[in-house]
Amino acid sequence: MSITILGIESSCDDTSAAVTRDRKLLSNIIAGQEVHRAYGGVVPELASRAHQQNIIPVVHSALSNAGVSVEEIDAVAFTRGPGLLGSLLVGTSFVKGFSLAQGIRMLDVNHLQAHVLVHFIQNAQNEQPGFPFLCLLVSGGHTQLVLVKDHLEMEIIGKTIDDAAGEAFDKCAKTMGLPYPGGPVVDQLAKKGDPIRFRFNKPRIGELDYSFSGLKTSFLYFLRDRLKEDPDFIGKNQADLAASLQHTIIEILMDKLLQASVKTGIKEIALAGGVSANSGLRQAVTSAGADRGWKIHIPEFRFTTDNAAMIAITGYYKYLKGEFAMQGVTPRARMHF
Ligand code: KG4
Ligand code: ZN
Repeated sequence: MSITILGIESSCDDTSAAVTRDRKLLSNIIAGQEVHRAYGGVVPELASRAHQQNIIPVVHSALSNAGVSVEEIDAVAFTRGPGLLGSLLVGTSFVKGFSLAQGIRMLDVNHLQAHVLVHFIQNAQNEQPGFPFLCLLVSGGHTQLVLVKDHLEMEIIGKTIDDAAGEAFDKCAKTMGLPYPGGPVVDQLAKKGDPIRFRFNKPRIGELDYSFSGLKTSFLYFLRDRLKEDPDFIGKNQADLAASLQHTIIEILMDKLLQASVKTGIKEIALAGGVSANSGLRQAVTSAGADRGWKIHIPEFRFTTDNAAMIAITGYYKYLKGEFAMQGVTPRARMHF
């Protein structure tokens, strides 16, 4: 018998609903929130309000696009955390009401685990990672090296001690006067620039941990000094700045990923999270993989940034284990695996 899951994601600034049947994705609707652009970052209060407006239409669209009726849903999965508390509350409260009204069981999902499990959504090649594998999870809020032992058994073997990689992209882009979120804009500009024209500080940090705050400061001071000499320095060098910044971030990410593979002896490597959309990072992992005989898993673009398909597939694995949530469940702004 197949299992049909409705997934709901509302941890940050995307309201999303998806329907899966076993590992097959039937629909995945994402409503982004333009309202934050004017502020150069996500405004939590505005995000919660937009979720409240979007959630019902998004769920309706997900069900109708999937051609699935409410009666056919076996369980509803939702993001419990980590994320913005006000945003998480909208999704959690909606799901509690939906569950009570329809008599459908709930599954609480960890957003980070879900980013990793996106690799188990059925794809055209019918491929999925084998256990154990390493996943470099890079998003706007997190940068982690995850040792994935089983669908729901993961261990963080390295993580950032300050900013996330996505934050480094976004904050440095903001310093350059680029719009939010800066990651995709830097990616585009970098394609036309020289990646080794400028050099920025790389962290010296032990084990498999990451740090990006030093890079951010080095980038800021570099620009401040150059702007004193030439007020149009950014305008004249935009592409080279973007390419050099992206190159440095990728070097930092790849350095620890290579170490993690050597240390664990694992050669099955996956990318996940918003920053895994970055074309330079995709290329770097692909070429490192070719050199080292890695088996690589890179998510489809639509599954890199926040989406409910990843919540539904994680819910599916929790359903198989009978790990349901109770009505007393509360969202968590901070949450570990
Ligand atoms: O996973 P995600 O949608 O949200 C979080 O859970 O944080 O990741 C969003 C992050 C943002 O920092 C955004 O700038 C970054 O992913 N991002 C990129 C690219 N596309 C999105 N960074 C670099 N290159 C990209 N192409
Ligand atoms: Zn995310």
